[in-house]
Amino acid sequence: MSNKDTTLAKPIKIGKRTATNRFVIQPMECADSSPGGGFSERSIERYRNLYEGDSGIIVFESITMQYESRARDNQLALLPGNKENIKEWENFIKNMKKINPKPLLLVQLNSSGEVSSSSFSRRVCVKPLYGFGGEIIDEDYVEKQMNDFIQASKILYDLGADGVDLKFCHGYLGSQILRPYNNRKWRYGGSWENRSRFAFEMIEKVRKIVNDDKFIVGSKVSMWEGFPGGQGSAGPDTAVIDLTESIALCKGLEERGANFILESTGNPSVTLELHMPERGKPDDVYLHFSMAKTIKDNVGPEMVVIGGAYSVLNRGKNNLQAVQPEWNSLFHWGNYNIEHGYADMVALGRQSLADPKLPAKYLADKEDEINWCTACDRCVELLIQQENVGCTVYNRPYVELLRKVRAEKGKLKFKRTAADD
Ligand SMILES: Cc1cc2nc3c(=O)[nH]c(=O)nc-3n(C[C@H](O)[C@H](O)[C@H](O)COP(=O)(O)O)c2cc1C
Ligand code: SF4
Repeated sequence: MSNKDTTLAKPIKIGKRTATNRFVIQPMECADSSPGGGFSERSIERYRNLYEGDSGIIVFESITMQYESRARDNQLALLPGNKENIKEWENFIKNMKKINPKPLLLVQLNSSGEVSSSSFSRRVCVKPLYGFGGEIIDEDYVEKQMNDFIQASKILYDLGADGVDLKFCHGYLGSQILRPYNNRKWRYGGSWENRSRFAFEMIEKVRKIVNDDKFIVGSKVSMWEGFPGGQGSAGPDTAVIDLTESIALCKGLEERGANFILESTGNPSVTLELHMPERGKPDDVYLHFSMAKTIKDNVGPEMVVIGGAYSVLNRGKNNLQAVQPEWNSLFHWGNYNIEHGYADMVALGRQSLADPKLPAKYLADKEDEINWCTACDRCVELLIQQENVGCTVYNRPYVELLRKVRAEKGKLKFKRTAADD
């Protein structure tokens, strides 16, 4: 059977639009903007490759709307009010759609909060969390952020983007406000009603300002961050899983017009291995599958649920135990999960850096040409070091960049391994 006849190759309706297949490119920030947050040659080259890769959806990486607080020094920005920047976005969208008009382009809007780097920007927080901290924000600050998300959505709509991903995951501002840990007494803290206000008012206002149901709106959500007080935990001081609020978030977004939820679990700054399962311990991929299924079980049939964290599966070269060898690959589980109603689409994170053209190769039955992600996480090392990010296994300039960075700064130890015990 040709891959064209598989479930992963089938189109799917998302809102009033159609994605031509079930592959989604995850938002992957690669810290390679030009100074001031504009498009560099490297960032344009990355997206050109992704457009040629023919996935159903491309979620453009996390962008900042206020340059003063950002997680990466070279983070791409959309700056309402900055005409030159908006013109760059206009050209970018036009040029990419010329390369391939089929993928739907959704842009991930973000506000960094406590993940903003204090070494080059203003770090702010909702309530100081051990190891993070920052200036404590007030209601005016939150309202200003919300306004930026809303303005940016309208700008992107006017420029021809197909939708937005309002980021409520990974410990950035949207996530910090939602957490049970945010038990501070203020308009955006304490009760669930208060903590969900930012998310719910924002989506209502985005829907209102754009006022076109062909514009896709949705959110990447951390179902469980995996530490006390994080999203999806039972209270401000426990990490015990209680998905009541995570489910309420997905349903609340749905009631207010969301078309998709992109599943995420863990927090890259705190629980990295849970968030992006690694090759030595890939089993958490099953937790991600379960979280996607939990979302599916709680939303209506119109909502598109995108499952995440598939990269560790690759062609089946991983340490998953008790699995038929032919079962443990990305394509097996992608098809299986969709066929069993556990997800509607499959998102590619690190795998999209290793091979941005995987969907096209799969659809053309050229699986043997795919560069498979080894889940070595050396691209993550580049990101943490505030360097341009790319695959350091298959993409020569990044292999050399990592070598240079390690020679200058030393090898970064950022993952817990058995040797640490
Ligand atoms: C280099 C790098 C950059 C990332 N940038 C983003 C981002 O901009 N927004 C986001 O929501 N997640 C980001 N992530 C997380 C991925 O989108 C994804 O959720 C995670 O890697 C798990 O998927 P995977 O196992 O397929 O890699 C990033 C991950 C990496 C490795
Ligand atoms: S550097 Fe390693 S983890 Fe990152 S994309 Fe390449 S193979 Fe995958």
